Amino acid sequence: MPAKYRVGIIASGRIAREHGRGWQECEHTQIVAIADSHPQALAQYGHDFHVGRRYLDYREMLAREELDIVSVCSWDPMHAEMTIAAAVHQPKAILCEKPMAVSLGEADAMIIACERNNVKLAIGHQRRFYSAWQEAKRLIQDGAIGEPKRLWSAVRSGMMNTGTHCIDFQLFVLGDPQPQWVMGSVERKTDRYIFGHRVEDRCFGVIGYPNEVEGIIESDMNPSYQLGANVYGTEGMLEVNENRLRYLTKRGWKEFEPTDKEQRPYGHAHVDQAYGIVEWIEGKNENYLGQAKQGKAALEIMLAVYESARMHERVMLPLLTRANPLDVAVESGVLPVERPGMYDERSFLVRGESMSWSAQKK
Ligand SMILES: NC(=O)c1ccc[n+]([C@@H]2O[C@H](COP(=O)([O-])OP(=O)(O)OC[C@H]3O[C@@H](n4cnc5c(N)ncnc54)[C@H](O)[C@@H]3O)[C@@H](O)[C@H]2O)c1
Repeated sequence: MPAKYRVGIIASGRIAREHGRGWQECEHTQIVAIADSHPQALAQYGHDFHVGRRYLDYREMLAREELDIVSVCSWDPMHAEMTIAAAVHQPKAILCEKPMAVSLGEADAMIIACERNNVKLAIGHQRRFYSAWQEAKRLIQDGAIGEPKRLWSAVRSGMMNTGTHCIDFQLFVLGDPQPQWVMGSVERKTDRYIFGHRVEDRCFGVIGYPNEVEGIIESDMNPSYQLGANVYGTEGMLEVNENRLRYLTKRGWKEFEPTDKEQRPYGHAHVDQAYGIVEWIEGKNENYLGQAKQGKAALEIMLAVYESARMHERVMLPLLTRANPLDVAVESGVLPVERPGMYDERSFLVRGESMSWSAQKK
């Protein structure tokens, strides 16, 4: 019996391979078409995932294929444009990669376009499906470490890169509260980009969650990094990094044995993500874990770190600035580039002219 849902994937790079495995291993979905502006990337992906219908122009794929689900797997500045273009064709769901967008204005436009076209919009915060993340949330909510007080995450390669997963972790284990404020500090003397948009050289942010719980995000301060956070409570602490969890209570350290401990990158998360989206489409779970509102919440905190540095103040949320405050700070001279020369941390992925960071800026 053919799978119920026809999937099309925009962009055939590294993360598209994880989406591909997810959609292929979910029995309800079938990848019917792919689009990538780079012919070799398209051909290689089509060959590896046995997809015959291939497009150099993603808009042509959207117009021709009557897709039920669209994966958006391109670089960050293209997420909004591609998601909005896909929404017009009214698929049942769009799974857009993280970070959701590069400004709140873009994120809002994506949400509105999806709502008006009755499309469910998911963001690729697939780590919410890790059993260790879910167990950490359960432990915190059951009071295993007392009242959570401080959450600390450290990342590298730009906050808007893996930092989005760490902030998403903080929000997830706290039950997705509405953060109240953010105080941030940013150093940016080189013209550093990642996935086609500006990032800082290093930064630090404190997030004020309700009940005087504080979260910390630091980026590029130390070489070591973590995908998750340490959570300090009144009666213990826990540490999460990727799909690993250990926690300290009055009875000593305990290590959690993940139920989904596959060795491949991201474990089973993309398959669980695919099943989760199908259940969401079918109305079997209204509380799908990685919805646009959660993707926007993580984005808003990161942009608030930049806004706080730009405005030299603690920023109250919701954030009012709809542009990317880091761009505004650089372009208005608040954060001048002192060592000129754009470079992108992901330039090793550039395959051709259309993907260069100068092309992204046009
Ligand atoms: N969720 C995660 O854990 C995770 C991990 C890595 C990357 N990501 C995100 O995934 C996205 C892609 O990252 P990647 O590492 O796969 O990048 P990549 O460079 O490997 O792939 C990007 C692909 O986009 C294609 N492309 C560029 N312009 C296009 C266009 N106009 N139309 C169609 N295709 C186009 C390129 O040819 C390339 O094949 C980024 O937003 C990144 O932040 C998420």
